[in-house]
Amino acid sequence: MPIPNWKIVNPDGKYRVVVTKELPGKRWMELLTAAGCRIEVSKSTHVLTTDEILAALGDRCDGAIGQLTETWGDTLFQALKNAGGRAYSNYAVGFNNVDIAAATRHGIPVGNTPGVLTETTAEMAVALTFAAARRLGEAERFQRQGKYIGWLPSLFMGALLFGRTLGIIGAGRIGAAYARMMVAGHQMNLVYFDIEPNQDLEAYVRNYAVFLEQQDQPPVSCRRIEQIDDLLKQADVVSIHTVLDESTYHLINASRLGCMRENAILINTSRGPVIDEAALVAHCQKYPDFRAGLDVFENEPAMAPGLVDLENVVIVPHIASATRWTRQGMATLAAANVAAILQGYPVWTIPDITPFLSEKAPPAAPSILNAKELGFAYSEDPI
Ligand code: DGY
Repeated sequence: MPIPNWKIVNPDGKYRVVVTKELPGKRWMELLTAAGCRIEVSKSTHVLTTDEILAALGDRCDGAIGQLTETWGDTLFQALKNAGGRAYSNYAVGFNNVDIAAATRHGIPVGNTPGVLTETTAEMAVALTFAAARRLGEAERFQRQGKYIGWLPSLFMGALLFGRTLGIIGAGRIGAAYARMMVAGHQMNLVYFDIEPNQDLEAYVRNYAVFLEQQDQPPVSCRRIEQIDDLLKQADVVSIHTVLDESTYHLINASRLGCMRENAILINTSRGPVIDEAALVAHCQKYPDFRAGLDVFENEPAMAPGLVDLENVVIVPHIASATRWTRQGMATLAAANVAAILQGYPVWTIPDITPFLSEKAPPAAPSILNAKELGFAYSEDPI
């Protein structure tokens, strides 16, 4: 009998895999089907509760693909283990919703989807930066409300970013891609904070500076800054690209906002709780020339009281990775993680995951976060 609100694909598959949301594209279903999986997909658009996921896992489940909005902790990993589960993948590159230690205790490999969100998310950070700088949200609302009665010399004046200083917090894949776009596109000088130096990014900016000088244009610069407060003081635009963990929770709080220029721009496409959202609301209320562009919120989908009323904040509903290519790629990687583990394949260790997007996926799991802890064999040979 069909289960309400769940779609079954390949009903006769020998492995049962639960997927807590419909995912874009078809490739992910083909991969799981080819691996012999019966796929049960929730058709619900609301965030499934832990109880609903427990019910879906039932007493026999070989693998699961979950969402960043769900709490995958001891309760769910214990249940997955009890149901015979051997694999879990987050449908996300971020994994702050997953208790990796709990999964490891239960012997469950945890996959994620790196490498397909980089440019897409960076492009959204660029879009938010300019939307905030040039007041696009405000201006669009004004236009739609029929308030435009004629050109005025000072209507919606914003900030010119060309040649100004860009600060990024977190210079990993996405932060570095965003920085390259802003430096090369808008000749911004870069300051960055990261625990590790990003040599490739520094070389990129150095080489670009040489190119500019050859064109008789002023060069750009790149400096790694040791203290976040110093970066905040210097930058005209600050964009956050860290993971969320205990060390980054409320990294941007009232005191750090106080370090920023009164007309600075703050962009967040990482995770909401990295910013103390109530403090940001108070700051934006106090400094109307301060601007923020937010893709993520501290208590999604809710927003801190007052945020929605702020004209100097641009807000979008966690869509930074929402291009068709990326979201389909994420689905492919999540499915490849689960399919590979169920088939006993090793784990891929090469940062480039693009071979998994081709017709013939390598016989490996593209990204397993606790592979070492669980003693997985590593595969380095693209097939
Ligand atoms: C992720 O994959 O972590 C992103 O936040 C999804 O947009």
